[in-house]
Amino acid sequence: MSENGTPHGEVVGTGSNGYGASAVRLDQGHIEGTGGLPERFENPGLPPHVARMADLDEKAAKRAEKQVATLFGLSSLATVGFIIAFFAIDKESSTYIPGIGDASLYNVVIGVLMAVALLGVGVGAVHWAKTLMPDAESVEYRHPQRAKDEDRQRVVSELTAGGDKAQLGRRPLIKYSLLGALALPPITLVVPLVAGLGPVPKDALSKTIWKKGDRLVRDPERTPIRADQVTIGSVFHVLPESIKDSEHVLEDKAKAAVLLMRLNPEDIKPKKERDWGHEGIVAYSKICTHVGCPVGLYEQQTHHLLCPCHQSTFDVTQDCKVIFGPAKRPLPQLKITVDSEGYLVADSAFREAVGPSFWERGSA
Ligand code: FES
Repeated sequence: MSENGTPHGEVVGTGSNGYGASAVRLDQGHIEGTGGLPERFENPGLPPHVARMADLDEKAAKRAEKQVATLFGLSSLATVGFIIAFFAIDKESSTYIPGIGDASLYNVVIGVLMAVALLGVGVGAVHWAKTLMPDAESVEYRHPQRAKDEDRQRVVSELTAGGDKAQLGRRPLIKYSLLGALALPPITLVVPLVAGLGPVPKDALSKTIWKKGDRLVRDPERTPIRADQVTIGSVFHVLPESIKDSEHVLEDKAKAAVLLMRLNPEDIKPKKERDWGHEGIVAYSKICTHVGCPVGLYEQQTHHLLCPCHQSTFDVTQDCKVIFGPAKRPLPQLKITVDSEGYLVADSAFREAVGPSFWERGSA
């Protein structure tokens, strides 16, 4: 029994207070209900209004006003400082920041001043709203959004009458030419946007400058490589000889870089890889198929190529299949042969796009 003489969890109401269900006391521990829900909940109303310090004390209000003005003033000063720093600080200069190390002085000053400028306005506005702006609770009731039936009917009649007066029904030529005149002008906004995206890349993302007969040259020496200079276990960073004629050397180099390795032909498992090489010498794109870092490490014993960015690992004995890491497809192989003087040359261009898979397959 509880203090008031009712058993724990006993129903003390009768449902006559508009709830449609009996009220129960909740301060008596667990209560098993009947599973019913009240038809409506009573509006709990607003909590009692609590006056703020600045509402009661003019000194506190003045203090808050000064704090807000200080924050806004700080923001203005930081903005002026930002503009001065933008032009005055040498972009090459650096500074030492404890815990971080050397950092660009320009970036640090610009970043700090921008943060102060934005935070000053934001914090000042919040402080202003919380301390000084009107603090009265108000209730705004929702009204039905739908217009009255008679208003809706009147609008329809006026539109119909307007259309009749303009003789749109009788003049289809004007009606349809007007539709075109209204529908087409937005294109004038779309065209500059699309045209402003720059030239269409065409096949620039899927093709390199490699072509049949291009000699393989060392990078950066640009000297051609004879097949007998490539011993088992060696690896060369290679470019096409035609890079010397390129108008966009860096762009072309970034796509055409190749790694040349020599393996014991018996270690190469796929026939295609052997056929596309020359006596165990094989050439593969150096551009990782994950997100395009240069593959940077060749493990001579295991014949694995490793990309340092996210550790994708490619097995050269299996046509550079991915054996570890996030890359989704093998490194593309360059088909090579030797020319009449014994120098290694490309037997064709790359047969597939080099680099990140999203260039031509839609996913990285
Ligand atoms: S770019 Fe090579 S693993 Fe990510």
